[in-house]
Amino acid sequence: MSFPSMAESTRKASFQWRIPPPIIALLLLLPIVSGSFFKPFNVSYDHRALIVAGKRRMLVSAGVHYPRATPQMWPDLIAKSKEGGADVVQTYVFWSGHEPVKGQYNFEGRYDLVKFVKLVGSSGLYLHLRIGPYVCAEWNFGGFPVWLRDVPGIEFRTDNEPFKKEMQKFVTKIVDLMREAELFCWQGGPVIMLQIENEYGDVEKSYGQKGKDYVKWAASMALGLGAGVPWVMCKQTDAPENILDACNGYYCDGFKPNSKTKPVLWTEDWDGWYTKWGGSLPHRPAEDLAFAVARFYQRGGSFQNYYMYFGGTNFGRTSGGPFYITSYDYDAPLDEYGLRSEPKWGHLKDLHAAIKLSEPALVAADAPQYKKLGSNQEAHVYHGDGETGGKVCAAFLANIDEHKTAYVKFNGQSYTLPPWSVSILPDCRHVAYNTAKVGAQTSVKTVESAGPPLGSLSILQKVARQNNASYITKSWMALKEPIGIWGENNFTTQGLLEHLNVTKDQSDYLWHKTRISVTEDDISFWKKNGANPTLSVDSMRDVLRVFVNKQLSGSIVGHWVKAVQPVLFVQGNNDLLLLTQTVGLQNYGAFLEKDGAGFRGKAKLTGFKNGDVDLSKSSWTYQVGLKGEAEKVYSVEHNEKAEWSTLETEASPSIFMWYKTYFNTPDGTDPVVLDLGSMGKGQAWVNGHHIGRYWSIIAQKDGCDKTCDYRGAYHSDKCTTNCGKPTQTRYHVPRSWLKPDSNLLVLFEETGGNPFKISVKTVTAGILCGQVSESHYPPLRKWSTPGFMNGTMSINSVAPEMHLHCEEGHVISSIEFASYGTPRGSCEKFSTGKCHASKSLSIVSEACKGRNSCFIEVSNAAFQSDPCKGTLKTLVVMARCSPSQDTSETASD
Ligand code: GAL
Repeated sequence: MSFPSMAESTRKASFQWRIPPPIIALLLLLPIVSGSFFKPFNVSYDHRALIVAGKRRMLVSAGVHYPRATPQMWPDLIAKSKEGGADVVQTYVFWSGHEPVKGQYNFEGRYDLVKFVKLVGSSGLYLHLRIGPYVCAEWNFGGFPVWLRDVPGIEFRTDNEPFKKEMQKFVTKIVDLMREAELFCWQGGPVIMLQIENEYGDVEKSYGQKGKDYVKWAASMALGLGAGVPWVMCKQTDAPENILDACNGYYCDGFKPNSKTKPVLWTEDWDGWYTKWGGSLPHRPAEDLAFAVARFYQRGGSFQNYYMYFGGTNFGRTSGGPFYITSYDYDAPLDEYGLRSEPKWGHLKDLHAAIKLSEPALVAADAPQYKKLGSNQEAHVYHGDGETGGKVCAAFLANIDEHKTAYVKFNGQSYTLPPWSVSILPDCRHVAYNTAKVGAQTSVKTVESAGPPLGSLSILQKVARQNNASYITKSWMALKEPIGIWGENNFTTQGLLEHLNVTKDQSDYLWHKTRISVTEDDISFWKKNGANPTLSVDSMRDVLRVFVNKQLSGSIVGHWVKAVQPVLFVQGNNDLLLLTQTVGLQNYGAFLEKDGAGFRGKAKLTGFKNGDVDLSKSSWTYQVGLKGEAEKVYSVEHNEKAEWSTLETEASPSIFMWYKTYFNTPDGTDPVVLDLGSMGKGQAWVNGHHIGRYWSIIAQKDGCDKTCDYRGAYHSDKCTTNCGKPTQTRYHVPRSWLKPDSNLLVLFEETGGNPFKISVKTVTAGILCGQVSESHYPPLRKWSTPGFMNGTMSINSVAPEMHLHCEEGHVISSIEFASYGTPRGSCEKFSTGKCHASKSLSIVSEACKGRNSCFIEVSNAAFQSDPCKGTLKTLVVMARCSPSQDTSETASD
């Protein structure tokens, strides 16, 4: 185990040569065991900022939810957060995962919170722990364990003794856990800030006076735990004086905390959005996100957290609802698999570098000086005495006009401000960064079917592969799931029960069965009228499947909608089977404990000769879950006990089927996905790990914009993609859940699909495009050159540069296009323009090919000529990345 920490590196340097290796190994483990990652420090605040170890800080935070990744992914996610410029990692704590059964705690695997916090500390980052324990988060039931509903007399999130008791118990448990592992900053750990509740202000009114009392109680309960770091209540305008209140939203630059003694914090900067089954995919442009962040620091903000920096995956049945999909990609800077989403990741990295350069001035001033530069243009200037003596000054120039470029004068100099943009001047003179000028590369994710590396394939094989012709396997086994009551653990009672009261959310499924007797008179009545009886339910969620005598009559999908389903009965006794299903429990809103699932109101059969049949009064037999679930046919240990039979290739899709096969893991290190686009709706497991619900439901045809204009206020319907296509077809299978071969894949399919067309694929940032012109600003990294900040060297004399980099373990295998001049088009569609430096391709290839990353200066000097004097020149490059071991093959293609 090697966790490079600050403490560790000093230890290594001074002791290594004298101490025997086994002891060194033990010493290296020390920081992890003792939790001492930093010299103990305190955190407090004033009106301007958090004060960390005695200094005001401008902090950038990366939201990463530990159970949405695997522990094996955590180090890389944290490292990429740090590389991207984060100082802090922020996470919620997921109560339902930690206490799945009342009194039985789980801190293992993806729920190993202590390990996660230690990894954050060992990388030198701080941690903001949002305990909640209500978290919302598009997480099942907002993070509450479902057993909490059953605590007698409970009402959630209000002045209610049973709730407060459970909440206090859990919050105390987490605070104690952190303290015992010495993870608070005053113990040398990374935890600098906590959170109690979550956006309670949104629902407080619904609880009247009891809501207000609850806020006070939650605050004093939290403070009473003696955690020794500040607590936050986000979106809580009545947060008590000694609790910080914070803003959540797409923009928070106008936010004012509820007291002049508190700093301006932004706990959730929504850098994308989540989506529902049947929804399109949200996308927040990098330029607008950078604009929002720059505006925030411009106008006095001091702590900003990306919600999410990495969204990840809702494994198992953890997605909230109604209807949230398995992917929680969120269009975050790190994608669902942990790959950089470019240009967002890189553009924000540059932004953070510019903010860091400005930090000495930002913290030196108590408040910015405001200067109006035009009708929609303004400057905020921070100046004061630097820490090491001398004056410091940083300025932010904003153009909030959505359409027009502005030409402004500031301190006697001229500046060009693109629409909806902020320029950051860390020395009050030179622009280090403009939010609308993206210098970072764009990456295009490529998805490859598993198999030998592309480079070793013939052209025909490559075409076949690209046509998706390689499916996971030709051999599948099938197992029929019984329709209706399947086992002895059923029970019969009168009336319709609330779904969650019965299932306790142990399964999505609940069977209800009743007997309907039909007379000859009924049949002739229906014939005469030419109409069949109809099942009618006042209100239901999320999916209802109606069967008569084991034949599916129909399915209804919706969230608290009326269900009307015609049914066909035969004379005599009929089994009416209703299967209610949940697709993620509600995670937002007041009175969650009352929300429930299944049916509400009356259920009846209409159209009978003697009037309606009131099903709410009938005798019903209930069975929770599926037989396959109960028998754990998805697990490595139990699957073989079931009676699987070989599935014929020509078998037609059928409902309620279990499928299983074995597959080999694709070579390499790229993230692995299963393409389940040929399936209907269900759940999938790999080697017993529940990878999530799947559903090939198609997103609405309309609503996606053809082009995405970053300018103007973002909302979640702007710039969406994927209309008319299934919302999700690829499902992440973390590599740590796989062995090299014979991985067991089990699916439960509800509506009918074709498993033969399932494929296993890998995702990689296969294509990179860069576009940097002579008018771009010099690279941020050059600002650390001595002389820049104090003006003895002119930043204007430094040429802009293009930086291309592949993911780790990959190198630039080919340069597909390069032109320095006036090239046209966009990524993957570039072409040369009238002006083109003839050596463009060879110069870029020379600099980049075979390397993981390369820098190319955008100047005549670098391209050994000026291809068109007096014209502004741009360099565009399109490159391909391949796994490093592949290069020799790919390079010789
Ligand atoms: C916020 C909430 C988060 C998350 C977010 C949307 O209101 O605090 O937990 O649900 O919305 O992604």
